[in-house]
Amino acid sequence: MKVVIITPTYNEKGNIDRLIPILENEIFPKIKNHDMNILVADDNSPDGTANEVKKLMQEWKNLDVSSGERHGLGAAYVRAMTYAVEKLKADVMFEMDADFQHDPEKIPEFIKKIDEGYDMVIGNRYSNGGSIPKNWPLLRKLFSIVANLFVRTIFMKFSIHDWTGGFRALKKEVFLKEREELTNYKGYIFQISFLQKAIRDGFKIGEVPFHFSDRALGRSKIAPIGYILEVFKFVIITRIQEILFGKFGKFLVVGGTGFIINWAVLNLLFTKFNFRPEIANLAGAALAIFSNYNLNNLWTFEERKANNLGSYLLKMLQFYATSSFGVIFIQTGTIFILGSIFGRENRLLINLYFIIGTGLLLIWNFTVYNKIIWRKEPQG
Ligand code: GDD
Ligand code: MN
Repeated sequence: MKVVIITPTYNEKGNIDRLIPILENEIFPKIKNHDMNILVADDNSPDGTANEVKKLMQEWKNLDVSSGERHGLGAAYVRAMTYAVEKLKADVMFEMDADFQHDPEKIPEFIKKIDEGYDMVIGNRYSNGGSIPKNWPLLRKLFSIVANLFVRTIFMKFSIHDWTGGFRALKKEVFLKEREELTNYKGYIFQISFLQKAIRDGFKIGEVPFHFSDRALGRSKIAPIGYILEVFKFVIITRIQEILFGKFGKFLVVGGTGFIINWAVLNLLFTKFNFRPEIANLAGAALAIFSNYNLNNLWTFEERKANNLGSYLLKMLQFYATSSFGVIFIQTGTIFILGSIFGRENRLLINLYFIIGTGLLLIWNFTVYNKIIWRKEPQG
């Protein structure tokens, strides 16, 4: 496998001078079964980082530089990864800072995970022995921890501990799949958004714990306040889109069609055929549930749909059972409990109970459909 360690630089002359020889002399000799290379992604650093790399290139043939205008860390990575795949024919790429905050000794561990079949391997500073600098001020430590906890919670993805970090290895397929979308994330937000897209598309993610050291020389290029706001905005907007345009959104649309069917049948049977309203409603509801079941099976949970008559009928039975349970116990139960506590005299209150009960019913139904009826079969 051809492995390219990509290290972005902006005024890192003093660091890159040391990093390249360490990689070449101390780390690469330990990795026997892969072709190891370095690509420096420099944005025309005023301190002449690129010239320094060019000098070193005379000594090492597996070293290269990609120079360009400065548009941010993410933009530099997209440019350099494109170069690594197209020009250098990389199979695997690393993201690694030039300032020694990412311990080069950890590189073999990342490669081992890739060899084991992981598509993207994330350096993890927050668990299993990973850590952040002990001498950081409390506020900075707190921010670093809280920010990652925030992302994990909003995305409901607790298995990934370090969302913002920049020490990673990935197969070229992951980059090629996400490249187009990544061009929208030019700054440090590139890191979270890349990982989020890789997970969304089902790539297998592994973690390697490491100790995040303090910067060796020079200073950080991150603008903390702007970055915090960017993370906040990205995570919230992405999550809302996931909910609305993902399974939950389809589930709501299906529910809406069910509501219309129920209502139309009720009115038709009652006004045109003189049915009792209760009977008319039961017929409408039964038809609506039948339609909901089929639409969810064919559309919302398309990739997990019933694939034979037996499972089609079993899922339908479960669907009728849990839908009725939800209406009786969750929705009606909520109206009963709230009515017992806050009274049943006021029409406005009853409507409020109905809305709360229906909200809980939707959550109940979606959870049962997603986790039980159309649960993901464990991958073997
Ligand atoms: N080419 C290029 N262009 N390189 C850049 C740019 C840029 O605009 N901005 C930063 N870099 C380089 C730096 O020279 C350094 O090698 C590396 O990217 C990381 O930048 P730092 O400025 O040292 O970032 P940090 O230490 O504050 O941030 C680290 O933690 C963040 C949050 O967890 C990095 O690992 C980030 O990737 C990570 O998001
Ligand atoms: Mn740094």
